[in-house]
Amino acid sequence: NYPARVKIIDVGPRDGLQNEKQPVPAAVKIALVHKLQEAGLKEIEVTSYVSPKWVPQMADNAEVMAGITRASGVLYSVLTPNLKGFEAAVASRPDEIVVFGAASEAFSQKNINCSIAESIERFAPVVEAALAQGIAVRGAMSCTVGCPYEGEIAPERVSYLARLMKGIGVQRVDVADTIGVGTPVKVQKALEATLAHFPIDAISGHFHDTYGQALSNTLAALQLGVWNFQSSVAGLGGCPYAKGATGNVATEDVVYLLQGLGIETGIDLDKLIDAGQFISEHLGRPTQSRVAKALLAK
Ligand code: HMG
Ligand code: MG
Repeated sequence: NYPARVKIIDVGPRDGLQNEKQPVPAAVKIALVHKLQEAGLKEIEVTSYVSPKWVPQMADNAEVMAGITRASGVLYSVLTPNLKGFEAAVASRPDEIVVFGAASEAFSQKNINCSIAESIERFAPVVEAALAQGIAVRGAMSCTVGCPYEGEIAPERVSYLARLMKGIGVQRVDVADTIGVGTPVKVQKALEATLAHFPIDAISGHFHDTYGQALSNTLAALQLGVWNFQSSVAGLGGCPYAKGATGNVATEDVVYLLQGLGIETGIDLDKLIDAGQFISEHLGRPTQSRVAKALLAK
């Protein structure tokens, strides 16, 4: 009993590219966003307003946002860890901002240089300001299954973070398996812990494929009724603060899975594969999407 339709948020331009060592020109990022919207993506995570010393690849955030020809009905989101980032982002008119916390204390420290409780204090004024300006707010929750520094993460810690996010007015949350260690039942427990605080419509699954479990985890999330998922075209990605973590599950692979299940996505797989080829060629390496590889070899 799966949802009839699924919305995919492609996080490739942000989560996918943030870890690239060579600077990717803004024009390439803009072209990638355009190709994704042409393929039918209705939500795109474009960039982040974080410290350029920490994540140099996202330093061109304003240029990228300004260069996008927006398509109607598409939601463009950006990451903002604090008020400084939010204030910079507002000029770019994002539809949604994303505050990002972690279920693991150690990861919170490494990623955003503060404890979980401190991160919530920083996010609160950001959320308030965004909502006051009519900008939607999403909360990313990293390391909801496992942490590169602390190991396994208990569902109670996910519930704790989700409750704090809810408490400051975050409208929807991502349950992220940042390092891709999750397996279906563990992922379901993290989702259920989140369901204690957010309705199913306000929860998205964000799976990395490090251990090859992302599609199984997607299916497990679908079984709970989750119908929002984050993935990145060509399986781009890896987090700078999660050593060894590979990319997000490839959007192409998720779309293929969903098509096979008869679930509506509104995405044109051929155009999506073109978008993946475009960025893979630019990066000079093969796509990480198994579906794209198989279909391109035909
Ligand atoms: P901090 O050093 O604690 O902040 O960093 P600070 O307030 O003390 O400021 C230090 C310096 O950073 C100052 O500059 C600030 O102006 C500057 P200086 O005086 O040294 O020249 N600064 C900023 N610059 C630009 N934009 C800003 C900003 N804030 C401060 N917004 C901070 C705190 C959060 C900024 C820093 O730790 C940071 O940028 N971290 C990067 C975090 C990041 O982008 N991580 C990757 C995304 S999360 C992820 O990938 C996981 C996710 O995909 C889900 C999943 O897969 O699990 C979401
Ligand atoms: Mg991620």
